[in-house]
Amino acid sequence: MKIKVGVFFGGNSVEHEISVITMNQAISSLNPEKYEIVPIYIAKNGVMYTGDDLLDLYSFRDMDVLLKRCYPVAVVNDGKGVKVIRCPAPIIGKRVLNTIDVAFPIVHGTNAEDGTLAGFLTLLGIPFVGPDILASSIGMDKILQKKVLKESGIPVVDHVSFYAMEYIKNEETILKQIEKTLSFPMIVKPGNLGSSVGIKKANNQAELEEAIAFAMEFTDRVIVEKAVEKLKEINCSIIGNITESETSICEEPFFSDEILSYTDKYIGSGKTKGGTISGKGIPVKMTGGKTTTKGNNNEFANRKIPAEISKEKEDEIRQLTKDVFQVLGCSGVARVDFLMDEETEKVYVNEINTIPGALSFYLWEATGKSFEQELDEMIEIALKRQREKEKLTFSYDQNILAMQGGKIGTKGIKGKI
Ligand SMILES: Nc1ncnc2c1ncn2[C@@H]1O[C@H](COP(=O)(O)OP(=O)(O)O)[C@@H](O)[C@H]1O
Ligand SMILES: [Mg+2]
Repeated sequence: MKIKVGVFFGGNSVEHEISVITMNQAISSLNPEKYEIVPIYIAKNGVMYTGDDLLDLYSFRDMDVLLKRCYPVAVVNDGKGVKVIRCPAPIIGKRVLNTIDVAFPIVHGTNAEDGTLAGFLTLLGIPFVGPDILASSIGMDKILQKKVLKESGIPVVDHVSFYAMEYIKNEETILKQIEKTLSFPMIVKPGNLGSSVGIKKANNQAELEEAIAFAMEFTDRVIVEKAVEKLKEINCSIIGNITESETSICEEPFFSDEILSYTDKYIGSGKTKGGTISGKGIPVKMTGGKTTTKGNNNEFANRKIPAEISKEKEDEIRQLTKDVFQVLGCSGVARVDFLMDEETEKVYVNEINTIPGALSFYLWEATGKSFEQELDEMIEIALKRQREKEKLTFSYDQNILAMQGGKIGTKGIKGKI
């Protein structure tokens, strides 16, 4: 019997479209002999849809037509398993459209990758691929993540963080604190977004204030960091769980402006096919298993694989990747991004991506693991975690409400508290 894999994607996030691309890449490499794909698309307004048209990337060019060809659904646990049911229920025709054995979240960004979807799947009681609620939410939060990593002795850049509401009230105090802690240039970021949205570099006081106002348009929490000058960015992927993990070779993404922008990441500089989803951004694996690359197999136009760094630096980065993954309690595939000061060769952890774009398949292929193998391992890790979880005690079989001869007093309960 094939395993029914519910692939959840989309979500109300600035990275919605990137999730659609990653999902399309993944489904083209899931072994059809082993798995049956049940697509669950989460529209930006939160409505979930299923339907075969969701499996074709090009259907997403016309959302109105696409959604008319799909069914709005609810995903529920009815005590016998997780079902995908039509919602509202049809007067005639099937109500239960499908069942799901294991969920595979392929979402990026807030309201999705940040623990929202992990929470929903935990509530359903279904095994799911990737990080649990805590690892997802800390992984998405640039501020808490830096605090946790720093506390664990992992190098991160100096920074100051604050709530937008605090800044509105005490702008001067916060600006003074920034001035005392950091020197220009600085990088200002929303505390919890992704894809470089809302991020600006500030070279002076006026730019700093402008960048903070800009970041506050996107979020209620802001982080200001010391900018690493003579910057070289290095990313490393990891697969496994907290006890067993394996790292990939490293990549070196390039950028066309002062920071690696949304355009650099997903669209490209526009010199060739920029502006199209298969342009120079994240490598795209199209149906049929072929990876579209520019140049030779090891070097995508906007990234160098492997990164040009010494063996010692590579070892240091791969070890730090394992440390970050472990400290944050991750699972599945993640990518840890580093900022390296080329002059001092000092390496800082910038952030973890707990569900990385393209699931980092291009790094795993370069390391010798096919995308199909990677996905197999991710699903196996999820099933193993569920087996471990089932051994834990989450509740007592005794029902205290049915005890005391049917009389329910508050004393015993009070005593417990
Ligand atoms: N402290 C820093 N110093 C220099 N450049 C930075 C710094 N932080 C971020 N950047 C640049 O901004 C880009 C986006 O920042 P990042 O924290 O990775 O946000 P996102 O989650 O949006 O990817 C990075 O890839 C890098 O190019
Ligand atoms: Mg980043």
